[in-house]
Amino acid sequence: MYSRIAGTGSYLPEKVLTNFDLEKMVDTSDEWIRTRTGIERRHIAAEHETTSDLAYRAAVAAMDSAGVDGSDIDLVLVGTTTPDLVFPNVGCLLQERLGIRNGPAFSLEAACSGFIYGLTVADAMLKSGQARRALVVGAETMSRIVDWTERETCVLFGDGAGAVVLEASDEPGIVYAKLGADGRYRDLLYASSGVSKPKEEGESGLLRMKGNEVFKVAVKTLETMVDEVLESNRLDKGEIDWLIPHQANIRIIQATAKRLQMPMERVVLTVAEHGNTSAASVPLALDVAVRDGRVKRGDLLLLEAFGGGFTWGAVLVRY
Ligand code: COA
Repeated sequence: MYSRIAGTGSYLPEKVLTNFDLEKMVDTSDEWIRTRTGIERRHIAAEHETTSDLAYRAAVAAMDSAGVDGSDIDLVLVGTTTPDLVFPNVGCLLQERLGIRNGPAFSLEAACSGFIYGLTVADAMLKSGQARRALVVGAETMSRIVDWTERETCVLFGDGAGAVVLEASDEPGIVYAKLGADGRYRDLLYASSGVSKPKEEGESGLLRMKGNEVFKVAVKTLETMVDEVLESNRLDKGEIDWLIPHQANIRIIQATAKRLQMPMERVVLTVAEHGNTSAASVPLALDVAVRDGRVKRGDLLLLEAFGGGFTWGAVLVRY
């Protein structure tokens, strides 16, 4: 038994914030942002738009492309670090709006790896017969936890959502999934606003990052991870058709592609247009490449992510 991706969808809020707009907000430049990160613009949710609103639009598109409706779905899983509410979770909010009445619905908090974590959990639940067809979403309103006065971080993030419909199948499918985490790095990337922890004096609760240190661990971890993917699946460099990486920084993506000996033409890049949309970035990139015809049925895809926690993960998919 396998699980296979039956449809993809995504949604980006209408408002676009360019590097030139950011030049007017903090001491930065388009040139600095482009050369250090590869980002040119990002989308920002409207004031009334919540994470579940973005997730809903992406989910509808994914369900349309899979040709299913709410009655066909029996598992909802949402990767997000920016949920609408403490509870109900975003999965339940989606369930209600999409007319899904069967099976569990939950969200999963793993920062930028949220979608990869969600896909892995959904795959395991489908394979073990606990569900037949899952809606797996990555959705974020990072703009709500970014400190818009801090140039080191506010230039990096954007809002958006991506989704897939994953269904049980006799054919592959997801052929491999591996997750990892290391909580010792908690202080390199975090947002301290929470529910049960009292706020300390002078704490903003907003996203904080030691970018340089995150960069080094991200590159090293992703390199080790892709080596493991190749070895565990007895794949030669060059056998993967498309790398669909988390879109945090073009330089991190280039390092991973180099390790896989993949030319950049076979790497799906959305970082210039979307920035880092955290858990939404991988399903957004996947949907872009499916819809523009680059990713075709039968292609071997490597989806990977790294994020706060630290958390990381990779999923190998025969699309
Ligand atoms: N505009 C202009 N200058 C900026 C700036 C900005 N937006 N942000 C930082 N700088 C300055 C710094 O103050 C520093 O100045 P100094 O040399 O005078 O002290 C200089 O640019 C270099 O900063 P540094 O942090 O060393 O840059 P960098 O090359 O490491 O790039 C990041 C910074 C954040 C782009 C990079 O570290 C990164 O992408 N890290 C990983 C981020 C990430 O992936 N996070 C999410 C994980 S999912």
